[in-house]
Amino acid sequence: MHTQDFSPIIQAITKQGYAISDHFLPTSTIEALKKHAEKLLQGGHMKLAGTGLQANHNAIRGDHIMWLRDDDPSLCVQTYLQKMRALQQALNQQLFFNLHELEAHLAIYPIGTRYAKHLDQFSQGRNALRQISCVLYLNTDWQEAFGGQLRMYLPEGNQLDIFPMGGRLVAFMSSEFIHEVLPASHPRVSLTGWFRQRDSRLI
Ligand code: OGA
Ligand code: MN
Repeated sequence: MHTQDFSPIIQAITKQGYAISDHFLPTSTIEALKKHAEKLLQGGHMKLAGTGLQANHNAIRGDHIMWLRDDDPSLCVQTYLQKMRALQQALNQQLFFNLHELEAHLAIYPIGTRYAKHLDQFSQGRNALRQISCVLYLNTDWQEAFGGQLRMYLPEGNQLDIFPMGGRLVAFMSSEFIHEVLPASHPRVSLTGWFRQRDSRLI
């Protein structure tokens, strides 16, 4: 197996705080992850994501999610986790992050649903330890006409729209970028992971 070259991702994060990397994993793995997510949804194993504001929850966020477990026996999940561990190591060694663990969930957005503008890291609570958000798209036949962009709000006031093409990874500093998911005309499948810092209160 050839060595994994994360330098384009590392360089982009250093320069601009985010990176977009196509073909992050082989197409066969992306297809298998997508099928895995669809099966979980059909089997009733995914649940509506919560935002803590249950009353108007659907207006904020309409995706169904399932958190991954480290001991998930599926080959595609293990391939993903292995790749993410390698990325974590590269970020720690080359950018001196102190990334300690990954939390990740599969997500399916039904047609017409969105995730309104938000930040992935809050100063308090469970999400405070999130350092880098990594969204991997699993939509093998996506077209721009379907919509479903990730809209990122950049510091200079510009916005960047990124389409959820299968195999594309978008990584960004969790505390720096407000972003949203726009509605799509087709179900939109993704695998989102967050690298977390060690909880210093526990050491
Ligand atoms: C999230 C999120 C972005 C995307 O799950 O927090 O912002 O493009 N996802 O799916
Ligand atoms: Mn987010």
